[in-house]
Amino acid sequence: MPAIKKINHVAIAVPEVEPALSFWRDALGLTVDHIEDVPSQKATVVFIPVGESEIELVRPTSEDTGVAKFLAERGGGMHHLCFEVDDIETMLTQLKEKGVRLINETPLELPGRKMAFVHPKSTGGVLIELYQLTD
Ligand code: CO
Repeated sequence: MPAIKKINHVAIAVPEVEPALSFWRDALGLTVDHIEDVPSQKATVVFIPVGESEIELVRPTSEDTGVAKFLAERGGGMHHLCFEVDDIETMLTQLKEKGVRLINETPLELPGRKMAFVHPKSTGGVLIELYQLTD
């Protein structure tokens, strides 16, 4: 059986980085690890560790991404939750067998990780990302 190891990150869609940091960094007192331009996601991502997990603030750099559409519709908010799993292929097979709708039937291979998204239609409205670290 594949197992979930932890919540890797919770992603929050933000229209701009600096105003968001006035809450997450300045008011809550969390520390920004780094800010990264992620061309493959057409986004700027702010990585904020919280214990064993992270908050990721995602600001789209293009209008044609899912996060940009989410922002246009809802003006920001929690975008997805990411579980780190020990065996993503087996987890995807198990979910399919249980009738869960997947956005990615096979994992995308990225540097350091494999990832796939589970459709919010099957999760009660929450977009769920699965990660398997490969480094
Ligand atoms: Co994510």
